[in-house]
Amino acid sequence: MTAADIRDIDTGVPMTRFARGWHCLGLAENFRDGQPHGVDAFGTRLVVFADADGALHVLDGYCRHMGGDLSQGTVKGDSIACPFHDWRWQGSTGRCSLVPYAKRTPRLARTRCWPADEVNGQLLVWHDPEGSTPPAELFPPTIEGYDEGLWSPWSWNSILIEGSHCREIVDNNVDMAHFFYIHHAYPTFFKNVIEGHTASQFMESKPRPDTTPNYENLWEGTKLRSEATYFGPAYMINWLHNDVAPDFTIEVALINCHYPVSHDSFVLMWGVAVQELPGLPADKAAKLATSMSRSFGEGFLEDVEIWKHKTRIENPLLTEEDGAVYQHRRWYEQFYVDLADVTADMTDRFELEVDTGHANDFWQQEVAGNLVSTPTSADEVLSDR
Ligand code: FES
Ligand SMILES: [Fe+2]
Repeated sequence: MTAADIRDIDTGVPMTRFARGWHCLGLAENFRDGQPHGVDAFGTRLVVFADADGALHVLDGYCRHMGGDLSQGTVKGDSIACPFHDWRWQGSTGRCSLVPYAKRTPRLARTRCWPADEVNGQLLVWHDPEGSTPPAELFPPTIEGYDEGLWSPWSWNSILIEGSHCREIVDNNVDMAHFFYIHHAYPTFFKNVIEGHTASQFMESKPRPDTTPNYENLWEGTKLRSEATYFGPAYMINWLHNDVAPDFTIEVALINCHYPVSHDSFVLMWGVAVQELPGLPADKAAKLATSMSRSFGEGFLEDVEIWKHKTRIENPLLTEEDGAVYQHRRWYEQFYVDLADVTADMTDRFELEVDTGHANDFWQQEVAGNLVSTPTSADEVLSDR
């Protein structure tokens, strides 16, 4: 073997810009408490507040007078008042609306006002280093029935992930095999469809009996059909159909979203809502949402554990079962270049169904072997008698 035979890892160059697109900052209601909220995002600080009418606004967090932190200030009418010298900045425009102690307010002065809007009970903010106005068709869709109150409240969580670029989580969208090794599931069907600003994953899976806690009690016979779509770089809606019995399916919506804090840290958020059904009253649906949110949280932490220790890799070495990693990264790249530089190969429709047959044959044998070598808790109970 010579040095030329050894494959090297290309760790790439550090990122220098943040993605163009809609990014969720959290549940809208959490920002409606009359207080300004500081959000560290996109390498800067934002202030989010509701004006007297309840409309949410997002401005640059640092005051253009002498740099005060507006999130430490006070909401006054339609403006945020800086804690340092009480300059007022209007939420809807970013204009300087009043300097109470000055003869003349510099009314032409403006700070950055970030385009913001709400969908599915969440606040989204538009980021574009080129300063574009967001085209309407890029806004994520409303989950059917959400506005009509047919879903439980969101069970919402967030974590700050340091030392990783948010591309790591986006890569997961095409990574079939990690569901077995990290998330205790066999994907029996796995397909991606990429088109325009969206990237979807269609998956059917079953829990792994050898590593899933309480498998026999809770999961035996459960099948999960999952349809997930990224609308832009950072906001995914995952529709999960849980076939818990032949004639009973629980409909679950999972939001998987993030915003970058810096080029190597991001806030990952997820929320779960369960559709209320005749057989599933509101309090049960809410409880189920909470317990599912907890279990998805455990799943994300399993990813985080990998990200904490892995390296960035631009040239992953793949097998057929690893799917469309390169095509998906090409799609993701569109959000990191100027609009004029978006090319057809980033947005053209691309579909790939991964053949899961061989992997499943192998995994079934592995699981069977594990079940023989590690007695289940039921076996232990019996042998104790
Ligand atoms: S720094 Fe904000 S009012 Fe002076
Ligand atoms: Fe994952």
